[in-house]
Amino acid sequence: MLGTIRVSGAKNAALPAMAAALLTDEPVTLENIPQVRDIETTRKLLAAMGAEVELGYGRAQHRTTICARNLTSPEASYELVKQMRASSLVLGPLLARCGRARVSLPGGCAIGARPIDLHIKGLEQLGAKITQDHGYVEATADRLKGGEISFEKITVTGTEDLLMAATLADGESVLHNCAREPEVADLAELLNKMGALIEGAGTPTIRVKGVGKLHGAKHRIIPDRIEAGTFIIAGALTGGDMNIAGCEPAHLDVLIAKLHEVGVKTAQSADTVRVMGDGPFKASDIITQEYPGFPTDMQAQYMALATQAEGTSVITENIFENRFMHVSELMRMGANIRIEGRRAIVRGKTPLSAAAVLASDLRASASLLLAALVAEGESIIDRVYHIDRGYEHIEEKLKGVGAQIRRIGEILPKKAAAPSRV
Ligand code: EPU
Repeated sequence: MLGTIRVSGAKNAALPAMAAALLTDEPVTLENIPQVRDIETTRKLLAAMGAEVELGYGRAQHRTTICARNLTSPEASYELVKQMRASSLVLGPLLARCGRARVSLPGGCAIGARPIDLHIKGLEQLGAKITQDHGYVEATADRLKGGEISFEKITVTGTEDLLMAATLADGESVLHNCAREPEVADLAELLNKMGALIEGAGTPTIRVKGVGKLHGAKHRIIPDRIEAGTFIIAGALTGGDMNIAGCEPAHLDVLIAKLHEVGVKTAQSADTVRVMGDGPFKASDIITQEYPGFPTDMQAQYMALATQAEGTSVITENIFENRFMHVSELMRMGANIRIEGRRAIVRGKTPLSAAAVLASDLRASASLLLAALVAEGESIIDRVYHIDRGYEHIEEKLKGVGAQIRRIGEILPKKAAAPSRV
């Protein structure tokens, strides 16, 4: 694949930014919003609470303005939470702004159990009264009180939820063992523009001085590092020469260092990574970890590359307990992979042959797509609605750099598919 491919705004930064708009009665304008299904689900979620959500069109199609002046119903229904687990991000902001929130419990999903107990515990430490009934979390608080929270385990949306809640609490909060993902720092930047007093976002300890009120703001969402990483691997796998433009190379350091070990050549400028994938590739192990470690959201895509590397790559998934759903489909395409608990042992290099495969979640579908790009023959990937949750117009972007790809609609009836709450 040859040419330039542009990266969209980060879905996982856009989702908390939209939830942050609930903290003020003034309009919040967000730019570089990706056109993906999870954003549309969030729009519905906020609109159901009474917020006005304007999505741009034409040249402003990546902009949204949210005004949460009249929050008539501070609730996130099961109908929406089951479509998108990140809906639980509204819990903290609703409680802080309205003094009450009712949010459906997300339950498990395709990649693991994914509880929200750490969000709940943290909010209780800020003085919230929380009960769980009929599958819903009901939270109330007159006004949250600043406090000290130490996360037992690092959680990205948990950190974001508590950070948002603490902005309107009475007094200072200190959050320990926080997620350091760039998406957390981006959220803090938006909140500070809204008048919050946050220090230390992007480090393990975040300090928040509560304020009485937040105001409107305008903010540009950071580029999607996972989308960028997926395209870098696409360039490498296909022996291409591609520019991945509009990204933030600093957010890709660990991935790029690993790809260099594998034998992928890259060069970078301020906002572009050039990938030259002329191989041969050699196997290298990865262990997924919280940022700045190797991202779990790139594990499946890396596995597609590992099938084309000489030798044995051991891929250890440390964040989610069930994130190997792509393995059996990759094996159907000719990959040699064995799963041992949290480890997948990939023996390469094996030629891949085209097959009809089934996507099980967002990043698994990206991995199958990458494998299909190098497989001999024509592959059909079904349930691609998973990929639309987090990749903007992926087939058009890939077509622009030479992939032969087209969307042909659903093959299996939609209702036969289990919902994914990634
Ligand atoms: N966990 C708990 N209790 C909690 C919260 C999390 O036990 O209250 C556990 C989870 O079950 C998991 C681990 O902690 O084993 C880490 O989960 P985390 O909370 O960090 O994940 P998340 O916030 O639900 C976000 C991204 C995911 C990404 C993970 C890890 C968003 C909207 N989602 O999820 O993105 O995989 O962090 O980096 O930011 C994706 O984009 O494909 C995706 C799944």
